[in-house]
Amino acid sequence: MQIRFPENFTWGVATAAAQIEGGAYEDGRGPSIWDVFSSIPGKIKNGGKPDVACDSYHLAERDVEMLKELGVNSYRFSFSWSRILPQGTGKVNEAGIAYYKKLLGLLKDAGIKANATIYHWDLPYALQMKGGFGNRDIVNWYLEYAKVLFDNFGDDVDLWATFNEPIATYVGYGPGFFAPGIQDEKYARQALHHLLLCHGEGVKLFRSYSFKKAKIGIVVDVWKHYPGRPGNAEDEAMALQGNEIRGFGMFLHPLFLGGYSEPLQAYFRENGLTPVMREGDFETIRQPLDFYGLNFYNGLYDNAEKLREMQKKRMEGGNYQDRPENHPEALRDVLHMLKEKYGVNIPIYITENGMPFDDAQGKAANLDDQARIDYVKGVLTWLHKGIEDGIDVRGYYLWSLMDNFEWSAGYAARYGLYYTDYETLERIPKKSASWYAQVIRENGFDAES
Ligand code: FCB
Repeated sequence: MQIRFPENFTWGVATAAAQIEGGAYEDGRGPSIWDVFSSIPGKIKNGGKPDVACDSYHLAERDVEMLKELGVNSYRFSFSWSRILPQGTGKVNEAGIAYYKKLLGLLKDAGIKANATIYHWDLPYALQMKGGFGNRDIVNWYLEYAKVLFDNFGDDVDLWATFNEPIATYVGYGPGFFAPGIQDEKYARQALHHLLLCHGEGVKLFRSYSFKKAKIGIVVDVWKHYPGRPGNAEDEAMALQGNEIRGFGMFLHPLFLGGYSEPLQAYFRENGLTPVMREGDFETIRQPLDFYGLNFYNGLYDNAEKLREMQKKRMEGGNYQDRPENHPEALRDVLHMLKEKYGVNIPIYITENGMPFDDAQGKAANLDDQARIDYVKGVLTWLHKGIEDGIDVRGYYLWSLMDNFEWSAGYAARYGLYYTDYETLERIPKKSASWYAQVIRENGFDAES
């Protein structure tokens, strides 16, 4: 069966500043929370640090060459707040502006559109020292930063995203296994409220410019939870938790429906976690957007029984994989949920989707990544069904252009279409790179082959 995508479909790849740029201490850049967090022993797998990463700070030309080899028509990347404003606010670092001017120039010359994220998890450390997202002043700090970006790059970026996956801030402040590694549920909940305000005020600021072509939206990942045994009370409760209390509902509800969902409010009340809010906050948060960016990786089936077994194995030191199955079909359901439950009636882009290989499998196995091709095929097949159902999906970005610094997993998880040799910084195309280039050329693929 031939699968063909709509004309003018956006085909891209995605990266993020902290994961690829390196140059962490060069040309006046300040430290981010990830630089500091990764220097604490035991926080990142195998002690990986983002100091050099893929060295894209020096290798932008090579990155754009790869984009051309793939034939993508859009590139999703993020700005590094610490490179633009080393202290988070105040003095602008001209070398940082120059770097992104250069990158945007290279993209323009190559005819590749820019999809840029303002904040992809790398808060300047100086701002964390003032309370980070837990301090309501973050709204002004964020606006100062966004203004520098809009002033310098406004219409050179086609799609602006205020945030990538706001849940990372929860993970860094609540459970604490992301930077900055704080474990404080109350602080985390307050931080998310402020983050949503940054988003809303950021969109308002953007509108004040009346750009000619630039559009703005937000990227929220959806890992939808389903009860493993429908009707089983424990599984149903787990899935509700996963979706509403610790998942996408925390964001989609205030962004698209207004206010926090009933289950989330109840959780706040019962645990004394209701964030401090001001009148008008929810109006600020719920701004009309031009697009919604969906990061989709998998659907999750919660089975309390199986989870207990896994936990037991974990305690016994056994080898286990937490939900190893792939559920690409969940994508179609998620697209319907966005439209039907949250009333998302703006263009949707799949801003991330991809699959990791373990570095420990070795280079040869990493280069011969048929499993990644099969997985992406599955996701694209279900994406296509969603489009056929009438959902307005305009594009797909594969995570990632090349292997990079995978946060707490360090350099152990490899997601790239290109294999990064971290010794030589050479990027080597994997099997999936030529496959994806062909999909782009043909605007689809043969589902049978
Ligand atoms: C997403 C992140 C991205 C990358 C992929 C694998 O959650 O947005 O930076 O780490 O996962």
